[in-house]
Amino acid sequence: MAAKKIIIIGATSGIGAAMATLYAQQNHVVGISGRRNERLLQLQQQYPAQIHIECFDVMGNYNNDHLKALIAKTGGMDLLIYNAGYGEISKTLDPVIEKETTLTNVNGFIEIVAFAFNYFTNQGYGQIAATSSIASKRGNSMAPAYSASKAFMSTYMEGLYMKAKKTALSQLYITDVQPGFVATKMAKGTGRFWEAPVEKAAVQIMAAIEKKKIRVYITKRWWLFGKLMPLLPNFIYHRIG
Ligand SMILES: NC(=O)c1ccc[n+]([C@@H]2O[C@H](COP(=O)([O-])OP(=O)(O)OC[C@H]3O[C@@H](n4cnc5c(N)ncnc54)[C@H](OP(=O)(O)O)[C@@H]3O)[C@@H](O)[C@H]2O)c1
Repeated sequence: MAAKKIIIIGATSGIGAAMATLYAQQNHVVGISGRRNERLLQLQQQYPAQIHIECFDVMGNYNNDHLKALIAKTGGMDLLIYNAGYGEISKTLDPVIEKETTLTNVNGFIEIVAFAFNYFTNQGYGQIAATSSIASKRGNSMAPAYSASKAFMSTYMEGLYMKAKKTALSQLYITDVQPGFVATKMAKGTGRFWEAPVEKAAVQIMAAIEKKKIRVYITKRWWLFGKLMPLLPNFIYHRIG
């Protein structure tokens, strides 16, 4: 595979760090971001020829300035992966949790992904992938902002897919990634059912991106969950969700 210029927003740990490492090992040029500069530096020191870094908070006001700076460091962009995400159980609708979830998964997402779409439109080719979640399928009483924000992401990605088709940009690809459970720090070591090791999830996401899939469930068995959840009647789901 020819070396690509890949930007991953949210790659200091978990799925993003695993993808950055694997892409660097495959000799791609990888631009990574996150708030923890020490993690970014660690990854860069491991792959100094491949990895470029930009430390910033997607809840801030300068997302696109940071993205432009990262694109300058990688010398261009062929693929953007919006992987930054935040979610917590919010039993009392804690305003800090609700706000951080929305700023990260909605505001930061839309600013960066919309910029990338226009960048790729001008360039004439490119690919955008975003890590949404299987939680996007239905409302959730324990983390309502998280499931709603992921529904926003997936619906926006579908809109971008249709927009790319309408503008007849045959080489602009959109990939909506919907993981089930993955054993990252977000999972807090709780050992949830069908929980995938982080590297397995990263490998499957990268394969789906390579195949230019429109939507992918991670791991593959979550496809079943993804199809059944919307069909579950309210009188059952509202008791368990
Ligand atoms: N683990 C799961 O079971 C699971 C399931 C479905 C979907 N997902 C999604 O997968 C994605 C990756 O999560 P993960 O499980 O790998 O967890 P993780 O290890 O917590 O990774 C989250 C990444 O997002 C970055 N990030 C979070 N808030 C940010 C902010 N305000 N500004 C900049 N970067 C920010 C983090 O970097 P810093 O902390 O350094 O800022 C980190 O690199 C998320 O979008 C998550 O919603 C995870």
